[in-house]
Amino acid sequence: MSAFQSIVILTGAGLSAESGLSTFRDKDGIWAQYDYREVATPEGFARNPAKVLEFYNRRRRENKGVQPNAAHLALARLEQAYSGDVLIITQNIDPLHEMAGSKNLIHMHGEIGKKLCAHCGIRSDWGDEELLVESKCDACAMIGGMRPDVVWFGEMPYRMEEIYEAFTRCDMFISIGTSGTVYPAAGFAAAARQVGARTVELNLEPSEGVSLFHEARHGKATEIVPPYVEELLFGNP
Ligand code: OAD
Repeated sequence: MSAFQSIVILTGAGLSAESGLSTFRDKDGIWAQYDYREVATPEGFARNPAKVLEFYNRRRRENKGVQPNAAHLALARLEQAYSGDVLIITQNIDPLHEMAGSKNLIHMHGEIGKKLCAHCGIRSDWGDEELLVESKCDACAMIGGMRPDVVWFGEMPYRMEEIYEAFTRCDMFISIGTSGTVYPAAGFAAAARQVGARTVELNLEPSEGVSLFHEARHGKATEIVPPYVEELLFGNP
């Protein structure tokens, strides 16, 4: 018997750290090297599109060849084997959840494997080419508006209606590998508590919002997520 009927899982950069991808706010993280206002805002793109595109071209190159780790695989197994619903909402733009086999997945901050035309709004697969200021949209033929299909600071994350709908029925919320500092995701633990869900944090260290969680386990994702999934599948955590 499953104790929980509807599990919502939020993941962040810490989940992919052991696959070799950088986090944002750790001391050697991405925001220690770059000013997010320059590379992850619509205003930064308007000011210096070449700099923004080079930042994402580089991040896309870093994503090439990465593999899901034991924590991604455990979460995919949970979705497949659990008798209740499991929804993963990820802030990560990498493709590691889907590579691990997760299906019920929302990329709320977009995907590094897709591009978006700022002129016509068409989203499409980002092929092998680098995105450049002079790249042309395949759909509207405009030049100068091609950008990665990722959500920047000041933009609305994707699929928020579906996400909030999921929080009306969830009875367990698990936050994994995220500092919990970026809204709206930073508000999900409170949203889950409002509907009476059990809240769990699995993270390297206590996040800023750790007091919002009924239970917290701290350690590397590959070491703490697989045993937690086993407990959900076979025992009472
Ligand atoms: P952060 O870099 O803010 O937080 C990563 C969290 O993962 C930290 O709390 C780390 O302690 C933890 N961590 C690091 N290594 C870990 C490991 N091996 N196992 C488990 N946990 C580990 O990244 P996010 O919370 O994902 O948005 O950041 C949220 C958003 O801020 C991102 O989606 C991005 C960023 O700015 C945009 O770019 C719009």
